Amino acid sequence: MQLFLDTAKLSEIREAMDWGVVDGITTNPSLLRAAMEEEKSESLEAHVREICRLAGRGKPVSLEVMGLKAEEMVEEAKILYRKFNPVARNVVIKIPVCTSTGEGRVEEGLRALKELSRLKIPTNATLVMTPEQALLAAKAGARYVSPFAGRIDDLVRSRLGIPFGKYDYFDFSLLREIGRIRLEERVGGRQEGLGMLYQDGELRALMDPGQNDGILSGVELVRITVKILRYYKFKTKIIASSLRHPRQVREVAEAGADVATVPFSVLRAMLRHPKTEEGIRLFSQDAEKAGYRELFR
Ligand code: E4P
Repeated sequence: MQLFLDTAKLSEIREAMDWGVVDGITTNPSLLRAAMEEEKSESLEAHVREICRLAGRGKPVSLEVMGLKAEEMVEEAKILYRKFNPVARNVVIKIPVCTSTGEGRVEEGLRALKELSRLKIPTNATLVMTPEQALLAAKAGARYVSPFAGRIDDLVRSRLGIPFGKYDYFDFSLLREIGRIRLEERVGGRQEGLGMLYQDGELRALMDPGQNDGILSGVELVRITVKILRYYKFKTKIIASSLRHPRQVREVAEAGADVATVPFSVLRAMLRHPKTEEGIRLFSQDAEKAGYRELFR
C-alpha cells in the first residue's frame, strides 16, 4: 500500500518526505487555507509550486478545483495542470464526485472526470461517501477515487448520538457485535412467521447499526469500494482518505486500499508504541553498561 501525506504544510511535507516512506501528497482548499495561515505564506501560487517541488517527480500531488460546473472544473484543471505539472510532473486534479449541494445538477463531477480522462489529465474523485459514487467515478475514468472514511465515521457516530473527538478511533466491529447480539435477543423466542419479523422496524434497524444505508463505518466504505472496483478490474486506484487514527490505516491496508492518505500526526503516531519506547530505554542503558561504545571505535 502506498502512503500519501494529507497536508498542505510545507514544513510537514519537507519532514515527512525525508523519512522515505511517503509516496504522494493530497491537498484540499481547507488544508491549503490552514497551511497558508500557519506558515504565513504570501503567495498561494508559490506555496503550491513548492508543494509539488518538495513531493518530487513521480509522487502525485492532488490539487482541487473550485468550480461547480463541469466546464469550469475542466478549465480550472487545465490551468492547474499547465501551471504546476511542469514543476515535478506529479499533478493530479481533484474533482468532487458530485457538486450538488442538494439543489442543482448532480452529474457535473462525472462529466468533468470524463473530459479530463479524455484529455489524459489524471484525476482524483473526491468527497466519495458511498461505493456507488466510487463506481461511477471509476466508470468516468478517474485515476483515483477518495472514499472519506473519517467523515463517514463522524456521520455514523453523530446519528447514533456517540460523542467523539476528531481523532478518536471508532470501533465499528464492537458496534456490529452489539447489533448482532441485540438482534438475536429480539428475535429469540418469538413465534411470528418470517414475514412478520421482516416487517418489524426495530429488527430492520438492527441490521443497519450504522444507520447509514448499510455502510457501518468509513473502513467498511473503503472495503466495499475495493471489492467492487477490483471485481470489475477497474484501473482506478483507491485512496482511503480522511483517516484520523493509525488503527484505521491498518484496517484500510487489510481491506486492500491502494493508498492511505494520512495527516502528519497520524504518520508519527503509526511509529509509536510504549513497548518500543521502553525497549529503546532498556537497550540504551544496557549498551552503556556493556561498554558498547567500544564496538564503534
Ligand atoms: C483527502 O483527500 C481529503 O482532503 C482529506 O483526507 C479530508 O480529511 P478530513 O475529513 O479529516 O478533513
